[in-house]
This record gives sequence, C-alpha cells and structure tokens, in this order.
Amino acid sequence: MIHRTALIGEPPEMRDFEGYSYPPLIGPHARIEAFVTVDAGCKRRTSVGEGTWLMKKVHVGHDAIIGDFCEIAPLTSVGGYVEIGHGVKVGQGATFKPLIKVGDGARIGMGAVVTKDVPPGETWVGNPARPLYRATGELMTESELQGWEQIAEHARR
Ligand SMILES: CC(C)(COP(=O)(O)OP(=O)(O)OC[C@H]1O[C@@H](n2cnc3c(N)ncnc32)[C@H](O)[C@@H]1OP(=O)(O)O)[C@@H](O)C(=O)NCCC(=O)NCCS
Repeated sequence: MIHRTALIGEPPEMRDFEGYSYPPLIGPHARIEAFVTVDAGCKRRTSVGEGTWLMKKVHVGHDAIIGDFCEIAPLTSVGGYVEIGHGVKVGQGATFKPLIKVGDGARIGMGAVVTKDVPPGETWVGNPARPLYRATGELMTESELQGWEQIAEHARR
C-alpha cells in the first residue's frame, strides 16, 4: 500500500549531484503512509523491505536501505546511505546520521539522534543516542553507561 500523497523517487538531495538516479525499490506488502518521502538513489536503489511500515511523514534519504518487517514511526528522518536491518522498530521522530548502520532487531527510542552504528538487538535512546538495553533485554550497567557518556563527551568536543 502506497498512500497517494507519498513521494517516491524524488531526485536525491545531494549538493552537486548530476546524472542518473536510481528509482527506489519498495518490497512486497510494504505499507507507505501519507506524506512519506523516499528519495531516489545516487549510487544504488534506495530500498524499503518486504512488509515494512513507514508511518506518516517519514523521510528516507537517497541510497538508504531499510530491511524487511521494520516499523518506522512518524516524522523519522533516515539520512543518506543509512542501512537499517530487518525487524527494526523506530520510535517517533528519530533521526539517523548519514551512512550509519543499524543491526537486525534493534529498537530506537522516540526522538533519538543516532550518530553511531547500532548493534543487532539493542535499544538505543537519546541525543546522541546511546544504549539503553542490551540484545538480551538487560539494562546497560552503570559503568557501560559511563563509558558511553565519555564517548558522547569526546564527540561533543
Ligand atoms: C525506548 C523505549 C522502547 C523504551 O521503553 P521502556 O523499556 O518501556 O522504557 P521506560 O519507559 O521504562 O524507560 C526506561 C528509561 O529510559 C528513558 N527513556 C525511555 N525512552 C526514552 C527515549 N525515547 N529517549 C530518552 N530516554 C528514554 C526513560 O526516561 C527511563 O529513564 P530513567 O530510568 O532514568 O527513568 C520507548 O521509550 C520508546 O521510545 N518507544 C517508542 C514509542 C513510539 O514512538 N512508538 C511508535 C508510536 S506510532
């Protein structure tokens, strides 16, 4: 299902891009809601996997790949070349830095700003996003969280 207001295959939003752009590939049974935008690719086809649900106003940038059976909540923005695995759930209004990768079964909290690769099965939240739960569902320990705080602090400098 592709809503009639969705824009699929608009030119890639990349400065100085010229030439052929690759039309997006939308998998079978994908559900694309109102006002979703999926841009064409510069180097490959921007893809939305089988059974994946893009809720209202999701933006998928050029060359991004979203796997099968994902759920991407409203107002999420997926940067260019991002790769999201299979079965990933993304909360409302999350933002993904271009080029990062998200592993299968990961979960991203509402409003997260994801600036680093997310391992499979983990839950990440915040800005910059950091792990909340391991793949086992256990909370991250205090020392692990402090480690992430240091990385985030370093990134801010
Ligand atoms: C990330 C998420 C899955 C965690 O859910 P949960 O396991 O029930 O977590 P809790 O609500 O118990 O919160 C645990 C801690 O994480 C924090 N937290 C939860 N979600 C957060 C988020 N998105 N950003 C920042 N911190 C968050 C809570 O404040 C809490 O912190 P505390 O222990 O210091 O009080 C959930 O909060 C979320 O963001 N779900 C997405 C919802 C959504 O957008 N659905 C789509 C609707 S269309």
